[in-house]
Amino acid sequence: MLNTIDLSKLFHQSSKDHTKGHFPIAKNSDEWPASWRTIEYKEYPRFERIFLPNKPEPRFTQAELAQVVNERYSSRSFTGGPLTLSQLSTLLRYSCGIVRSDGSDKVRRAQPSGGGRYPLEIYPIVFQGNQDVPEGVYHYNVREHALETLWQRKFSKSEVLSLFSYEWTAEASVAVIITAVFERNQRKYGERGYRYMLLEAGHVGQNIHLVSQALGLGCCALGGTHDQALETLLDIDGVTESVVHELIVGQCSA
Ligand SMILES: Cc1cc2nc3c(=O)[nH]c(=O)nc-3n(C[C@H](O)[C@H](O)[C@H](O)COP(=O)(O)O)c2cc1C
Repeated sequence: MLNTIDLSKLFHQSSKDHTKGHFPIAKNSDEWPASWRTIEYKEYPRFERIFLPNKPEPRFTQAELAQVVNERYSSRSFTGGPLTLSQLSTLLRYSCGIVRSDGSDKVRRAQPSGGGRYPLEIYPIVFQGNQDVPEGVYHYNVREHALETLWQRKFSKSEVLSLFSYEWTAEASVAVIITAVFERNQRKYGERGYRYMLLEAGHVGQNIHLVSQALGLGCCALGGTHDQALETLLDIDGVTESVVHELIVGQCSA
């Protein structure tokens, strides 16, 4: 039998010690290069934007945190209806958007981020649309709290199945695709930064689960996906920016 090298074990062992990173990280942040402090935002300036509402503040139907955590589950049964603009706005803002700002460049987002490098980008793919947000592929512009329209189009069931492995995903309203731009994180943390990007995607994923639950929506994280097909659809190269996590959200029947 061939002895295959388990790259995940090699990677895990070799990225255990944060002091043995790519570069020594000075304790005094004033000594850091600007590229370790600058926060990069991906934007599609020439693409049509749909601005998401800031007001009114979200009305969570079940907003007691303990209740939301108690009742969270992975929903695989959807009614096929779209999310309202307000639900989509709340979902994105409170999962991965800017939640606090004092007017300066220093803002807080819904998720923690290793070293505040914010390597993640979010692409909602809307399967069930409405006049506010028609079916299509969008990029979430975090700074503007807006959707940038990459491609407005409907998806057939077989197209949905070419992206995700499950029939029931076609009845969901939106797939939230999380990608990571490796360089934003790894120029500071090297190989170990890969862990931080995946961990941050998990934080966003749990936020999406809990906000969905609080809004009375169904949600399921997905490992059964065809990442290369998704990367082709999003028009990203899959190397410098790659799909790392996917969740499906929709109006649920139960
Ligand atoms: C990273 C990850 C990948 C998952 N992939 C799938 C999947 O491909 N298909 C699926 O039906 N559920 C998937 N799930 C959901 C799990 O099956 C589910 O969370 C688990 O069974 C526990 O159930 P609960 O979420 O209802 O508590 C995934 C969950 C995570 C965190």
